[in-house]
Amino acid sequence: SPDPAPSPAPAPGTSLNTTGNPYADATLYQDPDYAAKVKQSLGRVPVGSADAQLIQVAGGFRTAVWMDRLAAIDGAKATGGALGLADHLDAAIAQQKAAANGGALKPMAVTVVVYDLPDRDCAALASNGELSSANNGMAIYKTQYIDRIAEIVARPAYAGLRIVTVIEPDSYPNMLTNLSKPACAEVDRKKVYVEGIQYTLAKLSTVPNVHMYLDIAHSGWLGWNDNRAKAVAGFKALVAGATPSGRLDVIRGFATNTANYTPLDEPYFNGTDDVVKTGGTTQFYEWNRAVDELTYIDLLHAEFVAAGFPRSLSFIVDTSRNGWGGPKRPTGPQADVDDMRIDRRLHRGNWCNVKDTGIGERPRANPDPSRAHLDAYVFIKPPGDSDGTSDATQTSPNEEGKRFDGMCGTMTGDALSGAPHAGQWFHDQFVMLLRNASPALK
Ligand code: BGC
Repeated sequence: SPDPAPSPAPAPGTSLNTTGNPYADATLYQDPDYAAKVKQSLGRVPVGSADAQLIQVAGGFRTAVWMDRLAAIDGAKATGGALGLADHLDAAIAQQKAAANGGALKPMAVTVVVYDLPDRDCAALASNGELSSANNGMAIYKTQYIDRIAEIVARPAYAGLRIVTVIEPDSYPNMLTNLSKPACAEVDRKKVYVEGIQYTLAKLSTVPNVHMYLDIAHSGWLGWNDNRAKAVAGFKALVAGATPSGRLDVIRGFATNTANYTPLDEPYFNGTDDVVKTGGTTQFYEWNRAVDELTYIDLLHAEFVAAGFPRSLSFIVDTSRNGWGGPKRPTGPQADVDDMRIDRRLHRGNWCNVKDTGIGERPRANPDPSRAHLDAYVFIKPPGDSDGTSDATQTSPNEEGKRFDGMCGTMTGDALSGAPHAGQWFHDQFVMLLRNASPALK
């Protein structure tokens, strides 16, 4: 009998959103490189200790894979180094087969963070990155980074995977709110982030099994009414301008709280979270009504839909480090807002290796039946990876563009000391996160 006709190639700008929640009913990819880092930490605690037990559990965490520089695409597996993108996708296929145990394959979701924009992270220093727009960075980003990622994910061998991309954490939100900083004003004027992200959306939208979420910071950043309005208008223009069709459903939705510590919910605030405007200490929330991530995504969903996005627009939330368990967690409502918030930071803007934090809700799809616009909790920031060095002498960028940012030093009162460069393993932070997990690890 004749071969079945091959399915037609998708037109550029094909809607990917209509394929639904990529995490639904899917097994999550387990990154062997992450498991190896965890194992290293196991060797640093007493055998049989409570910490050792926690670390054993963490060995099973399903975390995202960060393409945080050109060299991450190839990796260095052959010489005993990190897996490259194709290695990860091969490993995902192997895990998918192993899970099927000879039976039918179940969907497998691999979360990949696309993170190498020129002039990356314009308002901070810890993760500036390797590409500079003044130095041909845009052309390099397009041809040596995005085109290469697109070529790999489009290989027929990977057509059976659900490849979820979290696109460019921090940069575009930084531009929206930090135009007073020269570096951000410059990327705005030169449209560096807009051009880079639009290229990425257009390119990856041609691969039907790639699902895209744009990073949209967190409630303690873009949560204020005026910032949300800016974000909705800015992201709409960004997405609409990405493909000739102007379709807004080219993305599945947005990722919030990436690499941040903001809780899903402040459990002791009243149902409407409107304690912010009443008595008590309001300083921590600075009259920002979006006091937690669930409030934030509810507001954003309604506002994006009102702005013309499809109702199916959905969110994922990074819960890798927003659990806030541990001894400082309040156990019930208090007279003062400041005493009952589980977010114990001194300021919501503190983002670097924050003290007293813990692992949050474990990754899973459709975690909240009352929120159809919440696709999944995901561990986007691998817990244990540093946010930036605490060494104030590291002022010039290393080869990855990493250097000291004051937010990682003693200035905020919230950052752990002894931290290595962003992305490197920080054992002490890792153990703290496990101890303070909420829900507790078991
Ligand atoms: C770093 C990246 C790293 C990522 C995940 C970022 O802050 O800049 O190099 O891959 O965190 O840990």
